[in-house]
Amino acid sequence: MNTRRLGKTGYIVSEIGLGCWQLGGDFGPVSDQAAADILKTARSLDVNFWDTADVYGGGQSEERIGAFKDKKSVLVATKLGRGPQFEGMARYTKERVKDSITGSIKRLDVEQLDLAQLHCIPIDVLRDGEIFTFLDDMQTAGLIRHWGASVQTVEEGMLALRAASCTTLQTIFNLFRQDAVETLLPAAQKHDVGIIVRLPLASGLLSGKMTKTTIFTAGDHRNYNRDGDAFFVGETFSGLPFDKGVAFADEIKHWLPAGMSLPHLALRWILDQPAVSTIIAGVTRPDQLRANTEASRMDPLEPALVAKLHDFYIEKVRPEVRGGI
Ligand SMILES: NC(=O)c1ccc[n+]([C@@H]2O[C@H](COP(=O)([O-])OP(=O)(O)OC[C@H]3O[C@@H](n4cnc5c(N)ncnc54)[C@H](OP(=O)(O)O)[C@@H]3O)[C@@H](O)[C@H]2O)c1
Repeated sequence: MNTRRLGKTGYIVSEIGLGCWQLGGDFGPVSDQAAADILKTARSLDVNFWDTADVYGGGQSEERIGAFKDKKSVLVATKLGRGPQFEGMARYTKERVKDSITGSIKRLDVEQLDLAQLHCIPIDVLRDGEIFTFLDDMQTAGLIRHWGASVQTVEEGMLALRAASCTTLQTIFNLFRQDAVETLLPAAQKHDVGIIVRLPLASGLLSGKMTKTTIFTAGDHRNYNRDGDAFFVGETFSGLPFDKGVAFADEIKHWLPAGMSLPHLALRWILDQPAVSTIIAGVTRPDQLRANTEASRMDPLEPALVAKLHDFYIEKVRPEVRGGI
C-alpha cells in the first residue's frame, strides 16, 4: 500500500482508506461479524485511515470501531454537526460542539480524536466562521488533534479553507464529478490542506455492477435518498439520476485498459491527482476493500484516456448532476 501525507496534519495515510458509513447499516444491513471482518481486513492490508461520523447508524459505526481493539497506527477521522442537537440551528454553539466531540470520544473508546471534521454543516455557519474558533478551542483543550471539514460543494470548501487551522477537506470527487481538479484541489494544495475523497465510486455506480433493475433495501440511502428526499442529493449516486448513472458507467466500460476493472479505473483516476491524500471508498464486504487497494499499485492512466473521460464528463455527465457542484 502506498502512502501520502495528509496535508499539514503530518499524518502519513494509506492511499486507499476506509469509509465506514456502511458500518452503520445505511447501505443495507452489515452484521457485527461482517463489520469486524472489514476492519480486520483493513488492518491486514495496511489501510490506516478510517472515516466515520457520530450519526452513522445513530453511533453504531463509531461503536463498532471503538469495539475493535487492534487499531495500532490507524487514524480514525470522525464528524460532527449533523446530529439531532444541531437540527434547525442557524448558529452552532460551542457547548453542542463539545458534547458531540465527547460523545465520539466515548463511542470510539479513545482519549482524543485524531481528526474531527465538520459534517456538511449549513453554508451560513461556514460563512460566519465562529465555529472554527470552537474547534480551535477543542484542540487547545486536548479533545482533538486536528480538525477539518467535509463539504458538499466547491463554494463550501473554499469557505473552510479560510481557517488557517483547518487541516483537511473531505469532498465528493470521482469520474462523475471532476470539477475539483481545477478549483478545490489546487486551493487546498496551496494551503497544505489534505484532501480526503469520498464517493469515489459514486455510491457503487462506478463499480460497474449495477443495472437499471438493481434493487436496494428499504434502509439503504440508495433507495430512500436517490432523489434527495432525506438529505443532500449529491451524497447518493453523486447527484445523478440512477438510470443515467448506470448508462454512463456502462459507456465508460468500453474504454477500460486491458486487465483493468471499472472500480480500478475510477480509483486510479483519483489517485493520479497529486493533491489527493486518501480515498475513503466505502465497502460492505472485505473482498471489495481488497480489490480497491489494488488501485494503489497500478500505473497512472494514459493522458489520452484522461482527456476522453474529461470530455465525457463535461459533455454528458455534468449537465445531469443535481444539487450543485
Ligand atoms: N457528508 C459526508 O461527509 C459523507 C457523505 C457520504 C459518504 N461519506 C464517507 O465516504 C465514504 C465513501 O462514500 P460512499 O460509501 O458513500 O460511496 P462509494 O465509496 O462511492 O461507494 C461505496 C459502495 O460501492 C460499492 N463498492 C465499493 N468497493 C467495491 C468494489 N471493489 N467492487 C464492487 N462494489 C464496490 C459498495 O456497494 P454495495 O454496498 O452495493 O456492495 C459500497 O457500499 C463513506 O463510507 C463515508 O465514510 C461522507
